[in-house]
Amino acid sequence: MLGIETSCDETAAAVVARKPDGSGEIISSVVLSQTALHAPYGGVVPEIAARSHLTHLDGLIDQAMSEANCDLDDLSGIAATAGPGLIGGVLTGLMTAKAMALATGKPFYGINHLEGHALTPGLTEGLRPPYLILLVSGGHTQLVSVDGVGVYARLGTTIDDALGEAFDKTAKLLGLGYPGGPAVEQAAAGGNSQRFRFPVPMKGRDDCNFSFSGLKTAVRQAATKIEVLEVQDVADICAAFQQAAGEAVADRVQRAMKTFRNLHPAVQTPVLVASGGVAANLALRTCLKRTCDQAGFRLSVPPVALCTDNAAMIAWAGLENAAVRGPDEFSLSARARWPLDGDAEPQPFAGVKA
Ligand code: KG4
Ligand code: ZN
Repeated sequence: MLGIETSCDETAAAVVARKPDGSGEIISSVVLSQTALHAPYGGVVPEIAARSHLTHLDGLIDQAMSEANCDLDDLSGIAATAGPGLIGGVLTGLMTAKAMALATGKPFYGINHLEGHALTPGLTEGLRPPYLILLVSGGHTQLVSVDGVGVYARLGTTIDDALGEAFDKTAKLLGLGYPGGPAVEQAAAGGNSQRFRFPVPMKGRDDCNFSFSGLKTAVRQAATKIEVLEVQDVADICAAFQQAAGEAVADRVQRAMKTFRNLHPAVQTPVLVASGGVAANLALRTCLKRTCDQAGFRLSVPPVALCTDNAAMIAWAGLENAAVRGPDEFSLSARARWPLDGDAEPQPFAGVKA
């Protein structure tokens, strides 16, 4: 299966196969990150992203096919992200996949990007549903019970910013580089997390939703109170931010674990999968490990290259879908918004993440 991913700021193509034992094998996977293009603006600029996808996608598909030593004839199908995401980028990948499928007669699958993330543990470690997944990236922050291929229950989502976005905005405010997550983590390593006390958003709330805009405001207030921000001030603010964010995520995850156990009482050792770019954060991982140990869950974190946006997860989701349903029609549209769980209540302020 060929996979194509163009929904945000990574242009990616991959060829993935299913092994006889049912698990996945990545034959080739190429990712071109646009980070450098967007860095001067401190965030992803949709039009620049779409143009870059358009320029590079064909070459990346050629590269993925040749690294896999694969002809179009060898493919079992063509899968592309059909949403949610920045619409210009999504259209670029989706139209390319449709054109290739039409020209070759191969089955076409329009994949929900979030489903790609959600099914990744099947590719990386052969994990089968049900399991609980925490998706934390620049575009999404969600807790989802993965109950089967195509069967997802969203337990919680952000009602404002995504966690990665909060890291990026904190970094921008403090004059650190873009993307902000790694810069904040690095600065926090030399900081005192006790000097500032930031609010832990949503702590103790009855649902599993997230909110990070209040934390961002607290960071801004702390930073503007200091006339000249020294390196140590920045480090202390980053450490306090990271601590509050970690505590907030752990609290929401604990609640979701209770719900997951109620939904799946027969599962002996449930698994929490942490995925998305922010899952690379070591302080967050430590928090999640502690939470898992306390609750009797096993923590699984895919390799970073498969936590962040890539096309192998889209190809794998294509294979998983092909095993349970027929291909999509060419009339399938690109979608800027596409909740994984159609029954979940929409969160109108959650941008593209809901
Ligand atoms: O999954 P991803 O590569 O792209 C999408 O947003 O879909 O995630 C990127 C996000 C950015 O917001 C980035 O700042 C954050 O993940 N990130 C981190 C770290 N590495 C990347 N956040 C915190 N700590 C990190 N070490
Ligand atoms: Zn993503």
